[in-house]
Amino acid sequence: MVYFQSSERVRKLPVNFFDQLDNRLAESEHSGKPFINLSKGNPDLPTPGHIVESLKRAVDKPENQAYPPFLGKENVRLAITDFYKKEYGVTLDPLKEVAIFHGAHIGITGIPQVLLNPGDYMLITDPCYPIYYSSAILSQAQTYAMPLEESNQFLPDYSRIPKDILKKARVLLLNYPNNPTGTLATKAFCEETIDFARKYHIPVINDFAYASLGFDHNKPLSLLQTEHAKTVGVEVYTMSKTYDMAGWRFGFAVGNASIIQALNHFQMHAYSTVFGAVQDAAACALKSSQKCAADIVSTYQRRRNVLIDGLRRIGWNVASPPGTFFAWLRVPEGYDSQSFSDLLFDHAHIVVAPGIGFGENGNQFVRISLVNSEDILAEAVDRIEALHLFK
Ligand SMILES: Cc1ncc(COP(=O)(O)O)c(C=O)c1O
Repeated sequence: MVYFQSSERVRKLPVNFFDQLDNRLAESEHSGKPFINLSKGNPDLPTPGHIVESLKRAVDKPENQAYPPFLGKENVRLAITDFYKKEYGVTLDPLKEVAIFHGAHIGITGIPQVLLNPGDYMLITDPCYPIYYSSAILSQAQTYAMPLEESNQFLPDYSRIPKDILKKARVLLLNYPNNPTGTLATKAFCEETIDFARKYHIPVINDFAYASLGFDHNKPLSLLQTEHAKTVGVEVYTMSKTYDMAGWRFGFAVGNASIIQALNHFQMHAYSTVFGAVQDAAACALKSSQKCAADIVSTYQRRRNVLIDGLRRIGWNVASPPGTFFAWLRVPEGYDSQSFSDLLFDHAHIVVAPGIGFGENGNQFVRISLVNSEDILAEAVDRIEALHLFK
C-alpha cells in the first residue's frame, strides 16, 4: 500500500475524546466487576412508538425511494415552522429561514464553515462540547474560548473578550441548555447576547441540542425568542435528545436568512439530501402531541434526583443540574478531573467523563450522564460510597 498523507486540516483534528474513553473501557471490561458507564451522551430510551410507526409507513411511499428535494420536503419545513410557533412563539419563513440536515453535528460543523475564512476567530466557551474545536479547524479558523465560571452560573462574560479578538471574531457559538455544565440560559443573558452580537456584527449560533431538557418546570428558552434575534442569530435543533432519535440523524437550523441560505448552498455540495422517510417521521414527531417529550424529561428528572440526592446523602456536596441529561460535579479536594476519573475507573469500575476533555476550565469537574436507569445510578452511588471519600 502506498501511504497518502491526509490534508493539513484533517491532520489538525484531535483524537475523538469519547472514542478514547470507549477504547479504555473496552480494554478493561473483562477484568472482574462489570463497569458502569456514566460517560456517554447516547440516549438509552426508545424512540416513541408513533414516530417509529410513521417511519415504517413512510418507507413504503414511492416518493421517499427517490431523491428528496434539496431543501427538504415541504411537510417537514412546515412542521418545523409550526413547531417553533407553538413552542416558542417564533415566526419563521419555511423556505428562507429553515435548513434541514443529518443531525445537529452537521449544523454546528457546517455553519462555521459557511461563515469563517482562514484567520477568523470563532468565539466558543471553555468548557464546551469538544466538536466545536473541530468545527473551527475544519473552517481553518482560530478559537477564542470564553471561560464559564460557576460564580457566573456558567454563562460567558462578553466584557472580558480582548479587543483584538473581538475585531477578528466572525462567529459566536453558544450551547444552552449547556453540555457539559447543565446550565440554562436566562432571558437577560439571551438579550445581552443579541445586543453584543448586533453591536460587534457577529453572527451567533445557539446549539439547542438539549432544547426540551429543562427540569422543575423550567422550559429552556430559544435564543430566537429574544427581540431582534433573527437579525444576527440562528439556532440548531436536533431530534436526537427531545425524541430519543439519536440514531435517525435529523436536525435543522432556523433563523437569519442569509446564514440559512449559505448553509443550504454549502449542503447541496457537501451532503446532498436527507432520506425522505426520516423527514416524514421528523414531521410526525414535531406535529404530534409533545407528551412523549415531556415524559422523557420526567424520566431524566427522576434519574437526576436519584443521583444528586444519593451523592449528597453520602457526603459529596454537589450541585443539581437544572437541565440537559448531564451532571457537572466538582471533584473532591486533592483531585483534578483526570485523577478523580481514574480513581472511579480503577476502584469503583465507574466511567465518568473527565472535565478536562471539555476544556482547561473543566479540570475541577467530572461529567456524569443520566442515560442510565435509576437502579444503575443508585448502584453507582453505592460504589462511590464504598470508597469512603467523604465525611
Ligand atoms: C451540545 C451538543 N450538540 C450537538 C450534539 C450532536 O447532536 P446530533 O445527534 O443531532 O448530531 C450533541 C450530542 O451529544 C451535543 O451534546
